[in-house]
Amino acid sequence: MTDADHTPSDPFPVEGMHHLEFWVSNAKQAAFFYERAYGFVPVAYQGLTTGVRDRSSYVMQQGNVRFVLTSPLQAGHEIGAHIERHGDGVRDLAIMVPDARAAYEHALSKGATSFQEPETFSDENGAVTIAAIRTYGDTIHSLVERGSYAGAFLPGFEALPIAPDTDFAGVGIKDIDHCVGNTADMNPWVKFYGDVMGFTELNQFTDEDINTEYSALMSKVVSSGDGKVKFPINEPAEAARKSQIEEYLDYYGGPGVQHIALETDDIIATVQALKDRGVPFLGRPGTYYEEAVKRIGPIDENWEDLQRLGILVDKDEEGYLLQIFTGNVQDRPTVFFEIIQRKGAKGFGDGNFKALFEAIEAEQALRGNL
Ligand code: FE2
Repeated sequence: MTDADHTPSDPFPVEGMHHLEFWVSNAKQAAFFYERAYGFVPVAYQGLTTGVRDRSSYVMQQGNVRFVLTSPLQAGHEIGAHIERHGDGVRDLAIMVPDARAAYEHALSKGATSFQEPETFSDENGAVTIAAIRTYGDTIHSLVERGSYAGAFLPGFEALPIAPDTDFAGVGIKDIDHCVGNTADMNPWVKFYGDVMGFTELNQFTDEDINTEYSALMSKVVSSGDGKVKFPINEPAEAARKSQIEEYLDYYGGPGVQHIALETDDIIATVQALKDRGVPFLGRPGTYYEEAVKRIGPIDENWEDLQRLGILVDKDEEGYLLQIFTGNVQDRPTVFFEIIQRKGAKGFGDGNFKALFEAIEAEQALRGNL
């Protein structure tokens, strides 16, 4: 396929997120955490026993979500330098594309910076072509052309033994809904995704929409044409005290991925299972539910269940959504997760941002960073 085959309205066709790679200081322990706390199944591995001498990677799967957890095995490694700067964090938001070479060439022609030229890797399960471009901070987008590759993950990874009855259902996480980036200046990155990937801007929040006494931020959302890949981009806005986005930028050492929203079809069951496994979630202001019942109106779920679990609700013209945010998943106040269930709504929970930010600020204050 060449660029000429792509319709003008979709110059950079994407098939969805392929995987997220986290560079972490102890991948073995992180894998145990994502397995035991979040319900992921370890499906593939590379490291010393597969002939890879400098790093070790665990591939964890649940539904269609793949996390790769990678640690360096030697001093002076780029992964170690990344961890030194950023702490544990997301290195790669890998996007699945029908044609990695065409996507890469289109991206470079529109001003993207190359990280890795297209290369084809193969094993007995088939061939995969991968290229990579840079995005905000030290984050990259691998462009993965998987085609009909039938292996557990990618060539170079060894499949791990999985019990025959494993259904990968875990706690009910099905897909990645969106991945949020924190930047110092969002507009160049909104333009980047528009120019390079042909993503369109979905909607816009201003600091008047998302404003608590201290933690104002601004956010824009870019999305692929079919909505399979959605990247909200945040920047700090003027606030009375330190913005939560500034706190992130200080501790991450620059721009990076703030949170990953994981989609479920049954948020009550998913959040209950995560709580049973010990996953901490942000608390919410005591008055939230009184106000929410009035704001949202009738829903399928029982409000008592939502209140017991701390699940937030927001609505737009097309329906409503349910969401909840975890605490940070490392000591630095940087990366966290969102669990989301959509019931028609296409938004991101703007109606909940004030409640969410008040909860974040309560924790920020405990850290002495407000
Ligand atoms: Fe979100």
